[in-house]
Amino acid sequence: MLGAMGSLPALADASHDADDSRADKPPMPPSITTMPVDKSTDRVRGMFDRIAGRYDLLNHLLSMNVDRYWRRRTVRMVPPVADGPVLDLCTGTGDLALAYYRASGGNTPIIGVDFSREMLAIGRKKSQRAGSNGQLKLVEADAQQLPFPDDVFQIVTVASGLRNVADTDRGLREMVRVCRPGGKVAILEFTTPRRQPIRGLYLWYFRHILPRLARLLAGKGEDAYNYLPASVGEFPAYEQLTERMRAAGLTEVRFHPFTLGVATLYLGTK
Ligand SMILES: C[S@@+](CC[C@H](N)C(=O)[O-])C[C@H]1O[C@@H](n2cnc3c(N)ncnc32)[C@H](O)[C@@H]1O
Repeated sequence: MLGAMGSLPALADASHDADDSRADKPPMPPSITTMPVDKSTDRVRGMFDRIAGRYDLLNHLLSMNVDRYWRRRTVRMVPPVADGPVLDLCTGTGDLALAYYRASGGNTPIIGVDFSREMLAIGRKKSQRAGSNGQLKLVEADAQQLPFPDDVFQIVTVASGLRNVADTDRGLREMVRVCRPGGKVAILEFTTPRRQPIRGLYLWYFRHILPRLARLLAGKGEDAYNYLPASVGEFPAYEQLTERMRAAGLTEVRFHPFTLGVATLYLGTK
C-alpha cells in the first residue's frame, strides 16, 4: 500500500477517534504542492503497470511494515459478517482483499478490482499461494464504472486508491451504489499529520527523503514517488473527505487517524 502509494517511517501508533482529532481544531494542512496532479487513466495505469513487480517490496521496505498493520486494523474495525460479498477497489496486488479473505476464513466471496493488469497479475499469484478456492476474485475494471449491479456488497473498501481515481466524487458514488443498504464503506488513505512536531518531520521525510529513497530503489525516471506526495497533498482529508462521503449518500460518517495521522481510516454506512 505504501510503495507507490506511499512509504513512511515506522511510527509508534497513537491513533485516536475522530473527536480527538478535532479537539485542537488546527487549520487544515496546506497542500504539499499547488500543482494540479495529472490523474489521467493512461498516466496512473501506466505508472502502476511499470512498478507492479517492485510494488510490494517497496511498500513493506519503505514503510517498515506499518502498511500491514493498517490493513489488519481496517479489517478488525470493519469485519466481514457471514453473508454478502466484500469489494476492495483499487486493490493493486490484492493485500487488503487477501486480508479480508483470511479474516473470513474463505467463507465470504471477496472481489478485488483494479485497472492495472500488471498489479492484478501479481495479486493473482499471491491469491493462489494463499490457497484461494475461488472465493477471492480479482477483476480488471475502472473504479469509476464498476461492472456490478446496485446494492450488492456488505463492505466496500479502498486503500490508498481513491486518491488516484481521476474523479473522486464519481468513485465515491460508485462505492455507495454497489454497497448494499446498511453496508459499510471504508476508505484508508494517507493523511498529513496535523500536530507538531510530527507534522514537520513527516512533511520533510515525505517531500525530500521518500522520493529520493524510492527513486533509488524503484529506478531512475520513475515518477511514481513524486506523484505520491503531490497526490496526498492535493487530496481532500479529514472533514473535507467526510463531507464528500456524506454528499455521496453515506451516513454515520467518521474517521480514525492511524499512526499519528500518517494514514486515516474513513468509515460510512449506506
Ligand atoms: C497505491 S495502489 C494501492 C494498492 C492497494 N490497495 C494497496 O493498498 O496496496 C493504487 C492502485 O489503484 C489503482 N487505480 C487507480 N485508479 C484506478 C481506477 N480508476 N480504477 C481502478 N483502479 C485504479 C492503481 O492501478 C493501483 O493499483
